[in-house]
Amino acid sequence: MKGVILAGGDGSRLFPLTKVTNKHLLPVYDKPMIYYPLQTLIDAGIKDVLIVSGPRHTNHFVNLLGSGKEFGLKLSYKTQNKAGGIAQALELAENFADDDSVVVILGDNIFEDNFKKEIESFKEGGKIFLKKVQNPERFGVAEIKNNEVIRVEEKPKKPKTNFCVTGLYIYDNKVFDIIKTLKPSDRGELEITDVNNTYIKQKKMKSYFVKGFWSDAGTFESLYRASKLVKEKNIKSKY
Ligand code: G1P
Repeated sequence: MKGVILAGGDGSRLFPLTKVTNKHLLPVYDKPMIYYPLQTLIDAGIKDVLIVSGPRHTNHFVNLLGSGKEFGLKLSYKTQNKAGGIAQALELAENFADDDSVVVILGDNIFEDNFKKEIESFKEGGKIFLKKVQNPERFGVAEIKNNEVIRVEEKPKKPKTNFCVTGLYIYDNKVFDIIKTLKPSDRGELEITDVNNTYIKQKKMKSYFVKGFWSDAGTFESLYRASKLVKEKNIKSKY
């Protein structure tokens, strides 16, 4: 199993904080944001990690994280030339993944849970991680029937549940074939939600309910909340 951290995008919702730096390098309490998803992968036993970011900031990530030795990891870097969506960024990991499965985490997602068991027990298809939230319309939202996810809707105006699809995903190597079949959404991006819906239609998607704290950090409110909770809950990055 290989790890991929997606740390691209313009961070437009955090402007002007992101005018000269990348969102995932901003502080969440006492560490750069990307340390938290990195720690989630380390705690899950992943050793080989690719970081995908935009052309203006790839070198910043290299300066910060280097070869990964300090973290007990082998780190690689790849540049996404234009922000074209999470699925498009993931496609850049195809050569890196080789024939392996991938655990993908968005660089602004902060989790309290340890996912080692979920990752080690993964065999094929896909797995998404759900969390009950107050404001589901801001996320990918799971439609659930008889305890099974039957569809994911990206930022629905009228969400069918309160269960958001967090930015942690496990996919087998077929994900790269799926991405090649995707068409850009109305916002001009290749959506990870379309990847998830393809696995769901094929009846190859499993889901897991996140138990501990989770937050993304892509808006002023969520960035503030993430910092506050990291401090209060003592969610430590060891580095
Ligand atoms: C992205 C995904 C969304 C997911 C969210 C989790 O949204 O598109 O499905 O729920 O990450 O952080 P974005 O952060 O691009 O708005």
